[in-house]
Amino acid sequence: MTAFELIRAFSHDATIGIVVTDTMITPPGPTILYANEAFGRLVGRAVVDILGHSPRFMQGKETRRETLDTFHHALAAGERFHGYLTNYRGDGSKYRAEVDCRPLHATDGRIENFVAFEREVIRRIGRPVEGAGGRYEPISVSNDLLTDGLRNLGLFQHA
Ligand SMILES: Cc1cc2nc3c(=O)[nH]c(=O)nc-3n(C[C@H](O)[C@H](O)[C@H](O)COP(=O)(O)O)c2cc1C
Repeated sequence: MTAFELIRAFSHDATIGIVVTDTMITPPGPTILYANEAFGRLVGRAVVDILGHSPRFMQGKETRRETLDTFHHALAAGERFHGYLTNYRGDGSKYRAEVDCRPLHATDGRIENFVAFEREVIRRIGRPVEGAGGRYEPISVSNDLLTDGLRNLGLFQHA
């Protein structure tokens, strides 16, 4: 079983948004190969309408180019990107997304896919805690984007 197959199997009824792409990072890629229902709900679109598109469809006026450049460089280097982006839903409404994107490696070390765990966050009220992560909190209950269960699967080189 490849990492992609495994992710697809456990993502199905996960409550966090999960999206898998190919490794073509320059336009028209990366291409979405899989998204779970929670991801469809997050981005306000039917999953079938997302497949085959690049995640760029979520971008809009207030999406920061600087953050996208950081994202691009992480993908190009085969590294994890964990950050906060302004995304737009199908109805045009915007939301702040916490994105934890990681490469999936084949047994020979080659990167086969990228997977991102995504959820909506809101700005914390009051004084920010240390770092960008301290400025936002998830709208749902879990404090950890990547659950311990997933971490323990050992799929990711950078935990
Ligand atoms: C798995 C995955 C999920 C992504 N999710 C988002 C997202 O939610 N919002 C977004 O603006 N970009 C997202 N991206 C990043 C864009 O696809 C693209 O890589 C980014 O715009 C930087 O590349 P560019 O400089 O060519 O635009 C995602 C990329 C991958 C691989």
